[in-house]
Amino acid sequence: MNLADSFEKISVKIFATPSDGAIEVANQMAALIKDKQSKNEQCVLGLATGSTPIKLYAELVRLHKEENLSFKNVITFNLDEYYPIEKDSINSYWSFMHQHLFNHVDIDPANIHIPNGEWPKEEIRKYCEKYETTIEKAGGIDFQILGIGNNGHIGFNEPGSSILSKTRLLVLESSTRIANSRDFANLSKVPKLAISMGLNTILKAKKIVLMAWGNKASIVAKSVEGKITDQVPASFLQQHDDCTFVIDEMAANDLTRFKSPWLSSSIEWTDAMIKRAVVNMSLKLQKPILSLSDVDYNENGLGDLLVEKGDAYEINLQVYYMLRDSITGWPGGKPNVIIEKHPERSTPYPKTCLIFSPHPDDDIISMGGTFMRLQDQGHNVHVAYQTSGNIAVTDEFVTRFLDFAAGFEDLIGTDATESKKILAEAQSFIADKKKNELDTPIIRSVKGLIRRCEAKATAKYVGLKDEQIHFMNLPFYETGAIQKKPMGEDDVLLTIELLRKIKPQQVYCAGDLADPHGTHKVCLEVVFESLRRLKEAGDEWLKDCWLWLYKGAWQEWDITEIEMAIPMSPDQVRKKRYGIFIHQSQKDSVPFQGSDSREFWQRAEERNTNTAQLYAHLGLTQYAAMEAFVRWHY
Ligand code: F6R
Repeated sequence: MNLADSFEKISVKIFATPSDGAIEVANQMAALIKDKQSKNEQCVLGLATGSTPIKLYAELVRLHKEENLSFKNVITFNLDEYYPIEKDSINSYWSFMHQHLFNHVDIDPANIHIPNGEWPKEEIRKYCEKYETTIEKAGGIDFQILGIGNNGHIGFNEPGSSILSKTRLLVLESSTRIANSRDFANLSKVPKLAISMGLNTILKAKKIVLMAWGNKASIVAKSVEGKITDQVPASFLQQHDDCTFVIDEMAANDLTRFKSPWLSSSIEWTDAMIKRAVVNMSLKLQKPILSLSDVDYNENGLGDLLVEKGDAYEINLQVYYMLRDSITGWPGGKPNVIIEKHPERSTPYPKTCLIFSPHPDDDIISMGGTFMRLQDQGHNVHVAYQTSGNIAVTDEFVTRFLDFAAGFEDLIGTDATESKKILAEAQSFIADKKKNELDTPIIRSVKGLIRRCEAKATAKYVGLKDEQIHFMNLPFYETGAIQKKPMGEDDVLLTIELLRKIKPQQVYCAGDLADPHGTHKVCLEVVFESLRRLKEAGDEWLKDCWLWLYKGAWQEWDITEIEMAIPMSPDQVRKKRYGIFIHQSQKDSVPFQGSDSREFWQRAEERNTNTAQLYAHLGLTQYAAMEAFVRWHY
């Protein structure tokens, strides 16, 4: 895209998946390394750590192993390192770089430079200056790789960093420590300080590529299109003359060309596009939809739409009705009445509904209000817990339960020898457990059992009977580690079997692709693939089956996408909250919080209240909270 024709002030390349983007960057790097080799020159790379560049390093290793890419002429400088940290600590960036790249290629160890988390504090300034001069002596950085923090940091240059900053010791923002705590046993173990190249150091690189995947859309848009400000350090990259953002489609979502395409080109005005444009304008102007005027349309880049449709009043009504028709207290359809624009069919009644819950608590967290309404309105509701969720139970929690099990056997006078043995073994294993060490099979099973009991209690709290509760234990999840397997044949076969047994008229799935470890994504793929095969096989019942997507704990549908919004009264909000509380292993201290320190019930409530408020701002009735769904036409 030509920058002059766009709101983007940095060149952006968008790829379908992070892997595609990483391969492109690896190819660019490899081309530069080879070009320098052919001229007998050194190639100086600036490298980043974090989750973003992992696929890039994997591809570079592949190029080395399978396509003879040599790193003999490569000199590297890493952006940053925690402080203090021992070099060979599993969490040091020194270890990260060796694990993902240096141990697998033919780079000369003398050419590797990483700020050292063991430098004595009083001498850090001297070492940082030396780091800068070493970069200069190497001829400056030819190709700098960056990731981006959700607060806009590059390297560890947090908001407020000066454009003139150089390599230095700095304090990490708490949002950065929370985000990075995914790699540590808990937040308190994440160092508070780090050594990082400065913004000045980074901007001196001859070529810069910043990669961003997934839920970074908002900060990517701010960096690329917003004003240059030290509050968004990555926005300084607008001043560099050879910087490219390589991002995936999800990270591109907030760029104007996708979010408000009518502002950058002439478009075809579909109903969905009209809804998006008008809703966004209404929210921006803080004016209810029915109060928007011709002047508002003209002043907000929607003159084209006005010309096409005639006047604001008609467009306002059209969008208002679309929003009004998405709200219903009858998620399974309203029996005995035909409401033309109702999001669901009134027949058949009652419906058989199947809620797929990736983890054992997504059903209640993400659609608890709807779950309860479906049950209370007499539908035949089934819930299928797709994975065991066992890795999210803490060691302390499992020990407490094993202790209970042994104590219970003593209490009722049965032989507790075996339980006590298991408890003692678990305690000694946990005491010496290394970071990232897999739990023993028995500990894993008990962790799964704890979550299963919580899920069962929640489903019963909603009113389901045993035969309506299904535990699938999809095999792709059972690695015992954060990294899961891709979708496998067994996952699909188990899902097909369940769907055929239940033959639902409504299926609910987590359509949220941004959970931190990718479990939701695989769970959704499994359902999609199962439905695809069932369709191909010509299963008749499928013709009458609608698929609704909810978002998981981490985000909500954009208000303009929602096709069914289920309102909740304050009482229903409270009832849902108590349902979430049943998942005690996930309360108070959750092992994998991502960058959000709120508990799950708080996230759910804030999200549902926010949706209700958005509807109210748009001029519709104000409810206490709302859950939101998008229909998937498979
Ligand atoms: C890492 C670094 C950071 C990360 C950023 C994004 O060396 O300097 O700026 O690039 O925090 O982290 P991930 O990739 O984990 O989202």
